[in-house]
Amino acid sequence: MELKIIKTEKPKQKPSGALGFGKYFTDHMFVMNYDDGKWHDARIQPYAPFTLEPCCSVFHYGQAVFEGTKAYKNKNGEVRLFRPRDNLLRMNESSDRICIPPIDVDFVLDALKKLVALDESWIPTDEGTSLYIRPSVIATENALGVHAAKSYIFFIILSPSGSYYAHGLEPVRLYVEENYVRAAKGGTGHHKVVGNYAASMKAGEKAAQMGYDQVMWLDAKEHKNVEEVGSMNIFFVFDNVVKTPALRGSILPGITRRSVIELLKDEGYKVEECDIAVKDVVEGAKNGKLEEVFGTGTAAVISPVGDFGYRGEDFVVGGGKMGKISRHIYDELTGIQTGRVEDRFGWVTKL
Ligand code: COI
Repeated sequence: MELKIIKTEKPKQKPSGALGFGKYFTDHMFVMNYDDGKWHDARIQPYAPFTLEPCCSVFHYGQAVFEGTKAYKNKNGEVRLFRPRDNLLRMNESSDRICIPPIDVDFVLDALKKLVALDESWIPTDEGTSLYIRPSVIATENALGVHAAKSYIFFIILSPSGSYYAHGLEPVRLYVEENYVRAAKGGTGHHKVVGNYAASMKAGEKAAQMGYDQVMWLDAKEHKNVEEVGSMNIFFVFDNVVKTPALRGSILPGITRRSVIELLKDEGYKVEECDIAVKDVVEGAKNGKLEEVFGTGTAAVISPVGDFGYRGEDFVVGGGKMGKISRHIYDELTGIQTGRVEDRFGWVTKL
């Protein structure tokens, strides 16, 4: 398929001051359409609204998936994408779960590189900033019957962003939710399906009203084991052993999660993917064996957890400060992403 490039004639004013997360968008976006059984009309075009009819299927049944990946520009002006191919491969897995046709990963990766190159001047370079990349697919058939749509739009937008949490690397506060559930096995929780995020909002609002930053989700069946956090996977350090919930069909297989496991194992840390009972987390916080808790995600990077609330009680972890392993893995990962640390795993795609 040919890729058309239509450049904007009206470049936008770039933001000045704090960027926040996902608030500003660059001059261009990548778009392609799916009709009659094939993707077509691939183009990089000026960032612009879509015109969709009110009967458009995504508005009614939420048949849509998305991804999140990032580009960094370092002090030498080098532009580096972190594992973008893995995100696009995961996107096809998410799409398959809700009957969206797959994309050609190599074609889209090439288009993504061209899009980032075109909007390179938007990539922020301050510590903790990056260009957040949001690929999405939405169903666009104009019909109200419940079935897999016959038309789709795939698009990629770019957002110069700072840290996901307003208070940067300050430890976050989590609320352990026991009533609402995020995902059950056999559902869509281990895919990046948009409905998962809508389903999490009620508990997120409840947690925010109580002063917490995010929800720590438990398994849907017994409400016994920790699964993940609103926008991150979760890691616990007990007695120098790093543990994270095993992927058993309801947890998102995070690319940052996988990178952290690979990095830590490579450095000789003991890392276990296993079931982690919330009662053991509480016990560990009480007796001091729980040394650190941190979340991982593209947007969240490595986010230390300072305390968590469970059944009306708050439990502080690691004195409420970022722990040694969390700090180390943050430095290593962001080092590889920005080029400060050698990319010994071949994770970075340069423009
Ligand atoms: C990401 O980390 O990229 C995510 O997609 C999480 C969130 C912002 C929804």
